[in-house]
Amino acid sequence: MCGIIGYIGFRKASEVLLKALKTLEYRGYDSAGIAISNENGIEIKKGAGKVDDVATDLSFISLDGKIGVGHSRWATHGRVCNENAHPHSNCSKNVALVHNGVIENYLELKEELLKKGHKFESETDTETVAHLIEENLKSMAAEKAFSESIKRLEGSYSIVAIIKGEKRLFAARRNSPLILGIGENENFLASDIPAVLPYTKKIIPIEEEMLVSVSDSEYKIMDFGGMQVNPKVLEVDWDSTVAEKGGFAHFMLKEIYDQRISLKESLSAKTEEARKILDSAQNIHLIACGTSYHASFVFATLLEKELKKNAKAFIASDYQFVANPSNETVVIALTQSGETADTIQAVKFAKSKGAKLLSLTNVVGSSITRLSDSIVYLNAGPEVSVAATKTFSSQLAVIYKLIYGNSYLSNIPEIISNSLSQEQKIKELAQKIKDSKSIFFLGRGLSYPIAMEGALKLKEISYIHAEAYPAGELKHGPLSLIEEGVPVIALAPSDETKAKMLGNIKEVKARGGFVIALTDNPKLEKEVDAVIEIEKTRAELYPFAMLPALQLLAYYVSIFRGIDPDRPRNLAKSVTVE
Ligand code: M6R
Repeated sequence: MCGIIGYIGFRKASEVLLKALKTLEYRGYDSAGIAISNENGIEIKKGAGKVDDVATDLSFISLDGKIGVGHSRWATHGRVCNENAHPHSNCSKNVALVHNGVIENYLELKEELLKKGHKFESETDTETVAHLIEENLKSMAAEKAFSESIKRLEGSYSIVAIIKGEKRLFAARRNSPLILGIGENENFLASDIPAVLPYTKKIIPIEEEMLVSVSDSEYKIMDFGGMQVNPKVLEVDWDSTVAEKGGFAHFMLKEIYDQRISLKESLSAKTEEARKILDSAQNIHLIACGTSYHASFVFATLLEKELKKNAKAFIASDYQFVANPSNETVVIALTQSGETADTIQAVKFAKSKGAKLLSLTNVVGSSITRLSDSIVYLNAGPEVSVAATKTFSSQLAVIYKLIYGNSYLSNIPEIISNSLSQEQKIKELAQKIKDSKSIFFLGRGLSYPIAMEGALKLKEISYIHAEAYPAGELKHGPLSLIEEGVPVIALAPSDETKAKMLGNIKEVKARGGFVIALTDNPKLEKEVDAVIEIEKTRAELYPFAMLPALQLLAYYVSIFRGIDPDRPRNLAKSVTVE
């Protein structure tokens, strides 16, 4: 949550920061702001609202200076209002900083600072850090004042600060992502790689509990004890245009269409080492959240069915309360961002019991990679929209490659393309169901996690209540919710679930439900209200045929309800708080 950026170099910092904030906005978008250091001292512009609403007026652009920090907020401490927007400063306005994370001991620190006469302007935990630095600056040079302040913090943070008169950025990381982007006579600090891609592809992911001090021409990375480290510089092969809309109305739509290409890259992922780990494992725990959990559900099913393993998918935030990992357990973490706090914490719990960790992630150098014994990268390219689309199909592709090897998977991108050809029909159906109060998704077997993903996508970006059920469960309770006109999306491919799904569809129709079937079975047409045709394929590949239709359905319902699908309320792309 929250996107942070720092710049030092030869360009106009305000322009670099605002461009980066647009790229980072998916991490949080309730407030935005920048602070620039120049001959007038430190100037701050900030406010509540999306980057476009608050941060692109002339007063922001006109700020002169070549050093600065910027922030797009997802509120944790303090309401969404101008005062609580970052950057935060101190009494004498000689410090400005941006923060992603939660300072758990801020009340205690604040009390101490209040007693020393500091005056606070916001309700945030972050402002405390600016005052703490100010206090230390009374007796220490800037770098030490910063590092000594950081050492007093408990909780999670990536922080980038500027200090009046200093031609450096000061940063620290603990349990929140931070990367250093290395340019020619300019350097960057950011929450995520896409923010720096227009300027450099050379990055260093900052490790846990590290301090960074950066000028325009050099950088210093130290642990909290002051010991300097020299991590390897990585070259990322992401293209900066991947993080642009490329003519599509929204990132989500672009990313749905990107799947035709991204899946080819995902199918070339290196999986040999991970497959060996699976072969030697008997007890496998899969840990994930949200969309990644749905992928882990598919994975667990295939591990059980095809590789005859004991495999179970766990919701990451509940893992430590329900699971019993040991040194005989192989844990597989699925996380596109590699930064989800719930997943990281669950993984740490499993590792503390001796479990071995394999992770599937999209982001090179992300937090999960540093905990993993083995990593498979999704190769999906950056995903900007809050709703996961292409990274979910990439997760499925990598899972399928791990289970089935390369056989018959090469036509998956084509299956996706064919499914996208139903766009017009899906748009019409979206129009029909857009005012519904509740929408249900039914599936059996491998279609059930895809139904869960369809329901999550819809509720996340349309704000309509949506729920998925294994179709056979309907008669055990949820059937009482079905009445005249309630939309039910039935995933009904011609696989082993076909006959039983037909029975469940009839149960819904008998109660007046409005059934939309995703099917390749022409006979279903007369049983339901509408059909979205899917390609006839091998039974295990049907998830790829149904998924784009569900993504498009959610997208168009959101559009017809006047919602921005890239920035649904209350959410953020990377959830770095537990
Ligand atoms: O980065 P992760 O895969 O760990 O993220 C997990 C969830 O936060 C994420 O999938 C979320 O549910 C998406 N917004 C769904 O579209």
